[in-house]
Amino acid sequence: MRSKLGLRSRVKKLAIRVEQWFIDRRKLRQRWRPPGTTIDLTQIRTAEFGYEDERAIKQAMMLIWDHTLLSYDCLATLWLQVRYLDRHGIAGDLVECGTFRGGAVGMMALAHRASRPEPVRRLHLFDSFQGLPKPRADVDGDDAVKFVGDCSCSVDVPRKLLEERLQYKQTLIQYHIGWFQDTLPRAASSIDEIALLRLDGDWYESTRECLEYLYPKVAKNGVIVIDDYGSWEGCRRAVDEFLSSLGEPIMLHYIDYSGRYWLKP
Ligand SMILES: C[S@@+](CC[C@H](N)C(=O)[O-])C[C@H]1O[C@@H](n2cnc3c(N)ncnc32)[C@H](O)[C@@H]1O
Repeated sequence: MRSKLGLRSRVKKLAIRVEQWFIDRRKLRQRWRPPGTTIDLTQIRTAEFGYEDERAIKQAMMLIWDHTLLSYDCLATLWLQVRYLDRHGIAGDLVECGTFRGGAVGMMALAHRASRPEPVRRLHLFDSFQGLPKPRADVDGDDAVKFVGDCSCSVDVPRKLLEERLQYKQTLIQYHIGWFQDTLPRAASSIDEIALLRLDGDWYESTRECLEYLYPKVAKNGVIVIDDYGSWEGCRRAVDEFLSSLGEPIMLHYIDYSGRYWLKP
């Protein structure tokens, strides 16, 4: 009788642990990490979602995970996009608008270094480093205003990640500090060609400005990633308006509930 009870409670405990494990793994595929929700690196190490190159992807992810809000799917896709650019010799820089702590740029840097131990691609980080600006209530939605000032950090945070932890060549990194409306016109003349353009500025105006200034610089077959297409209506509207102004069909590819990308025709 006693051993039956013991067995039953062991089975119950095991069932709880299995359930917990699946819930924890699902967290890897979410983006925003609410305060207090930590993801143990073992969860990344043991995850297996079926990406090509997944072992290398996980190793890279473990180096940058504490510096990004992106999901496992976003980071894995980003790795594969950079590897695709390197494999096909598509020239150009790697650009992110809305970098925050620099983890997504770090992922791009590591993917590029996996192709070329002596990296050649320049990294461009655009951010106010004062957090999110005021959204436009009419296009970004009523909720957006609650996030003004969120995601603020010193530029030293991504700098330390890229230059110290990842040891990416300092001369290949450019920090564009300030509001996009001020930094983009200046930077547009110093960037020749872009291989990957990653937009993560959340709001309508931020997304629209980046597309206007930087899309013309994206190389043929280069990659454009939109982080907030599924999460913010203003971002989605800016992208939809921009795509319809191009006058050619563009297929948006799904990354996760929010992220999309396309290749420049
Ligand atoms: C959600 S965070 C980016 C997350 C980051 N890519 C990551 O890997 O975790 C959005 C960032 O966009 C920046 N941002 C949004 N609009 C901006 C603008 N108009 N000018 C400058 N920075 C802006 C904010 O400062 C913030 O750091």
